[in-house]
Amino acid sequence: MCGIVAYVGPKDAAPILLEGLQRLEYRGYDSAGVVISNKGLKMRKVKGRVADLAAAVPARFKGGLGIGHTRWATHGAPSDVNAHPHLSTDERIAVVHNGIIENADELRAKLEADGAVFLSETDTEVLSHLIARTVVEADSLEEAVRAALKRIVGTYGIAVIDAQRPGEVVVARNGSPIVLGIGEKEMFAASDVAALVRYTRQVVHLEDGELAVLKADGFHTFASDARETAKEPLTVDWDAGHYDTGGYEHYLLKEISEQPETVARTLRGRLDDRFHIAHLGGLNMDARETRSFRRVKIIGCGSAYYSGQIGAQLIEELARIPADAEPASEFRYRSPVVEPDTLYVAISQSGETYDTLAAVQELKRKGGRVLGIVNTVGSAIARECDGGVYLHAGPEVSVASTKAFTSTAVAFALLALHLGRVRDLSPADGRRICEGLRRLPGQIKEILALEPQIEELARKYAHSPSMMFVGRVRGYPVAREGAQKLKEISYVHAEAYPASELKHGPLALIGPEMPTVAIVPDDELLDKNLTTLGEIRARGGRVLMVGHRTADPKLADDCVVVPRNETELDPILLSIPLQLLAYHAAVALERDVDKPRNLAKSVTVE
Ligand code: AGP
Repeated sequence: MCGIVAYVGPKDAAPILLEGLQRLEYRGYDSAGVVISNKGLKMRKVKGRVADLAAAVPARFKGGLGIGHTRWATHGAPSDVNAHPHLSTDERIAVVHNGIIENADELRAKLEADGAVFLSETDTEVLSHLIARTVVEADSLEEAVRAALKRIVGTYGIAVIDAQRPGEVVVARNGSPIVLGIGEKEMFAASDVAALVRYTRQVVHLEDGELAVLKADGFHTFASDARETAKEPLTVDWDAGHYDTGGYEHYLLKEISEQPETVARTLRGRLDDRFHIAHLGGLNMDARETRSFRRVKIIGCGSAYYSGQIGAQLIEELARIPADAEPASEFRYRSPVVEPDTLYVAISQSGETYDTLAAVQELKRKGGRVLGIVNTVGSAIARECDGGVYLHAGPEVSVASTKAFTSTAVAFALLALHLGRVRDLSPADGRRICEGLRRLPGQIKEILALEPQIEELARKYAHSPSMMFVGRVRGYPVAREGAQKLKEISYVHAEAYPASELKHGPLALIGPEMPTVAIVPDDELLDKNLTTLGEIRARGGRVLMVGHRTADPKLADDCVVVPRNETELDPILLSIPLQLLAYHAAVALERDVDKPRNLAKSVTVE
């Protein structure tokens, strides 16, 4: 949430910062700004997108040191003045910040009483004034930043420059990621490697509490007690091409279309034909320990939580271990009872979602065993967990999650197979699931080929004021995710209900104005689902059925038919038409598909 870029080196910083901000725009996109240091600080910031900022930055903004920011507002509405960077009153210090300063009001009152003039409503501005006060007496910018941070309660990823020290940037992290990029006689920093990969693939992740000083010829990192820390650079797997739209009109369509390959990557090297098990070396558990769990508790937020519901179902069916999923944002606040024989699984595409990270930390504090199912290698949640499964789905840029969702469901199928085969899942059933998993990439391709039909259906239904999504048992999380995708990117109101619950209340909503998307796989609940469709039709409701067969026209107006796989794996394939439906509805309604209003990709605030 929010993007930070910093540069120090021989080149002009402005174009590098603007390019980096464009790559980070998915993290926040209501306002943006840059500051360049060259005989004083030169700043431009605008309400709007990075393209608006690029148009506003004058050519005379030359200089090899600068910081930039793209914002998702928390304190103060999106506006030019609330955009980052923020300067001290004497315009010596400039700061960009991600995160939330919880004691900002108290600090602001003290600083104002001491003569600081605040221009914005942001919490961040206290930092520029605090650092300006300490820098006068400090021996270094680093010392001044450290002193200011000691007075801060809250989370931050920051980059700071001092007009009087034109060759260095100081960055620090506590709860919001900062990554350093190592170039040839130049250094970069950013809140996400996406901003760096065009220039370097050698990176260093800062830990919480760490601070770094960057100069053109290198960097030094320090722990919160000022001790120097030793960091090994990592090589990032992805290059700039992975962050492009690759010829698609939107990142979202690109990411939906990538699913045959991303699912194949999640499976690669993990299926064993001899024992029909899944190899998941990252779990760091032997068979005895794996057998010892009596319960599985899954946590995640938003779509990650819905994929966790699919996961819980898979684990119960294949491993016969009681399992359930809960939003991480709720879990962490209800003082959960943490049990030694429960396996906790945290899910996150970004690996940064604050609520999920805080829930993992709460679990660890209480001695819980936590696995992570995470896409971003080396991210905070991945590092916090005891072990886990990486998705290897590649960078997901569009705010709406698609390929990470299906890869997470596939990772859960692998985990369920693994847990099942050390328990009572028979070799024959293990083999059946392995074979089913292997069929998925090809079957996803078949579903993607239905895009023209789904596009037409999306145009037909997109103008409905509201839509109902229903499914039973395995189909229910699919319905929830389908409704989430539709609301998130098309802004069409959508509700998801278990089909079995419809007649206990929401059936009152059904009529010609509220079409229903019904998830109807050919499983043991088929007849019950068809009865529900009859009840909807009897009330004048229109039905779009997504399942394995074409329904009687008396029961459904439209049908999308997906290939059959093993029943347990149905949710993975059934989710994909709903992604295309939401995408084409958003396009038909001319929405900003990749950057829906009010949202951002990684939610790093509470
Ligand atoms: C998905 O479309 C959403 N943008 C959102 O619900 C997302 O899944 C959620 O914020 C969790 O993100 P994470 O997977 O990066 O933790």
